[in-house]
Amino acid sequence: MNFVKLIFMILIIGGWTSGLHADELAIRNCAWCHGTSAQGYMTAPRLAGQRYEYLEKQLLNFKNHTRDNPFSMQYMWDAVAYLDPQTARDLALYFSTLPPKPANDGDWNLVPVGKAIYDGGIPQENVVACTACHGPAAEGVREIPRLGGLSYAYLKRRLDQWGEGFHAAAQLPMPFIAGKLSPADIEALASYLSFVR
Ligand code: HEC
Ligand code: HEC
Repeated sequence: MNFVKLIFMILIIGGWTSGLHADELAIRNCAWCHGTSAQGYMTAPRLAGQRYEYLEKQLLNFKNHTRDNPFSMQYMWDAVAYLDPQTARDLALYFSTLPPKPANDGDWNLVPVGKAIYDGGIPQENVVACTACHGPAAEGVREIPRLGGLSYAYLKRRLDQWGEGFHAAAQLPMPFIAGKLSPADIEALASYLSFVR
């Protein structure tokens, strides 16, 4: 879907008849940062194919400032400041239906290590297998996000920042799990997941 169609669809969803106002401007911005087909761009992660319930929840997390990661504060708090709950739901539904493409940008040599942790966890560190929640193809379900094919840099940043104490109010167990992963574990996991389709 191209940018013009996106705007058109959002106008229909929002049912707006008037000219530009704050909400509409904020929504148009989604594509400017996340890319026209929402595959992610620079620091903004892919939204295409992400779980509907998860997307909706993150938008609320940005809005109520519980997701306080540095880039969330810098970019997302303003972007959703005027978003009403119904529009947040409509946007979440829209992005969840776009087909996701894998970023394929991790270190290919780390894939076997990353896959082993993803499938088996790290028993001696009490780290549960990721597959138990995120699914065998890292596809996610409901409020558990799809991880397969997200970019290496984004996955690494999320896991690093949970370990540093950001977004501590996220649904358990991520802050706990990420805090137990070593830098090498995180690099391997982020590399592996960036190739999963
Ligand atoms: C100015 C750039 C910018 C704009 C505008 C923007 N985003 Fe974002 N978005 C980002 C960045 C950067 C992140 C990563 C935040 C982080 O690292 O914690 C992000 C993260 C997200 C996430 C979290 C994804 C995940 O996997 O957890 C969602 C959902 C999201 N944005 C939706 C939207 C929607 C919907 C809009 C339009 C209303 C929008 N964004 C507008 C830059 C932007
Ligand atoms: C018990 C279930 C469970 C297990 C096990 C689990 N996760 Fe999660 N994960 C979640 C939930 C729920 C969220 C959403 C958190 C939120 O509300 O922000 C999440 C979010 C994430 C995110 C953020 C994705 C995004 O788009 O921002 C990453 C990355 C992640 N998990 C990686 C992992 C890795 C790697 C493992 C294994 C070492 C793992 N998870 C194990 C439930 C789980």
